[in-house]
Amino acid sequence: MSELRFEGVTVRYGRALTAVDGVDLTVPSGQVVGLVGESGSGKSTLARAAVGLAEPADGQILLDGVPLHHRPGARRPLQMVFQDPYSSLDPRMTISDSIAEAMPRGPRADRRDEVVRLLELVGLDADRISAYPGALSGGQRQRVAIARALAGKPEVLIADEITSALDVSIQGTVLNLVRTLQRELRLSMLFISHNLAVVRYVSDIVAVMYLGRIVEVGPAHDVLGNPQHPYTKELLAAAPRRGSTSLPPPDEALVADAEPADPHHPPAGCRFHPRCPIGPLIRTDREHCLTLDPTAEADHRLHRAACHHAAGALRAVGPSPLMELKEDSQ
Ligand SMILES: Nc1ncnc2c1ncn2[C@@H]1O[C@H](COP(=O)(O)OP(=O)(O)O)[C@@H](O)[C@H]1O
Ligand SMILES: [Mg+2]
Repeated sequence: MSELRFEGVTVRYGRALTAVDGVDLTVPSGQVVGLVGESGSGKSTLARAAVGLAEPADGQILLDGVPLHHRPGARRPLQMVFQDPYSSLDPRMTISDSIAEAMPRGPRADRRDEVVRLLELVGLDADRISAYPGALSGGQRQRVAIARALAGKPEVLIADEITSALDVSIQGTVLNLVRTLQRELRLSMLFISHNLAVVRYVSDIVAVMYLGRIVEVGPAHDVLGNPQHPYTKELLAAAPRRGSTSLPPPDEALVADAEPADPHHPPAGCRFHPRCPIGPLIRTDREHCLTLDPTAEADHRLHRAACHHAAGALRAVGPSPLMELKEDSQ
């Protein structure tokens, strides 16, 4: 088990685009952090930085307190499972070879035994061992991708939209598998999805990302049960709930149609203000949101929201023991 920590991580593509902007986030040892946010908010870029596929322009990423870039040449004990099981497996390699390739070196016979063990672990019959990915369904391929990630004996697993490309009918079984494996192997996990319902199902901690920033973070129960940031509320309202057909309140409907955020030109002040149902477009007394940039503090044990008006909302419903009130600066 290991703790993965992002400290002030910024990742840019070229000069014009800051995809991840000063992110602080901790994945505590043996826990699942669900990272949710709309497409383009920077979730995958953050994951790619952790596994070394993107270079941070600023900040650092630490494993058990040791910066990853201070482990030159060492195998990163982080593995990632990607969204598309069709492109993440080499079509010319058997399943056995794909999984064995990701293992640390060892005697051939041991490797074969380990492949069989891993296939069983992810719920695939050992007789698929010499099959090629083309013979498998999307769900089966994703199981192979998970087995391949586990073959690297990771301490931290990063799952990026791993059910998004699958049929709805098999998403649940893959999610159950991931949750069971995470508990049995006591993995630390960063679980990324644009779908709040999926994140809700697996996470101990939930972090909400918007335009390259974490805008709300805290224990899953608190963030989802008592969301503070208007963007989190918007995500929750959009997530399917049984029996719910209600329309958003008129104020929210007014801004919900606003243009999607453009990461090349993030708004000044609070980045969410052009879409905010409790912000300056609706309430004339909230002009400070146009210029003052709210930040959330990074302590994942506390429930925090990067909103000038979250503290007031917290006060209205009464703090839980996990919440420390941040004084409303205005
Ligand atoms: N390889 C890349 N080159 C240039 N821009 C990229 C690249 N990958 C992602 N981006 C841009 O970075 C922003 C964040 O993307 P991404 O991290 O994929 O977000 P998410 O995973 O939340 O959908 C988006 O504006 C996206 O267009
Ligand atoms: Mg993504």
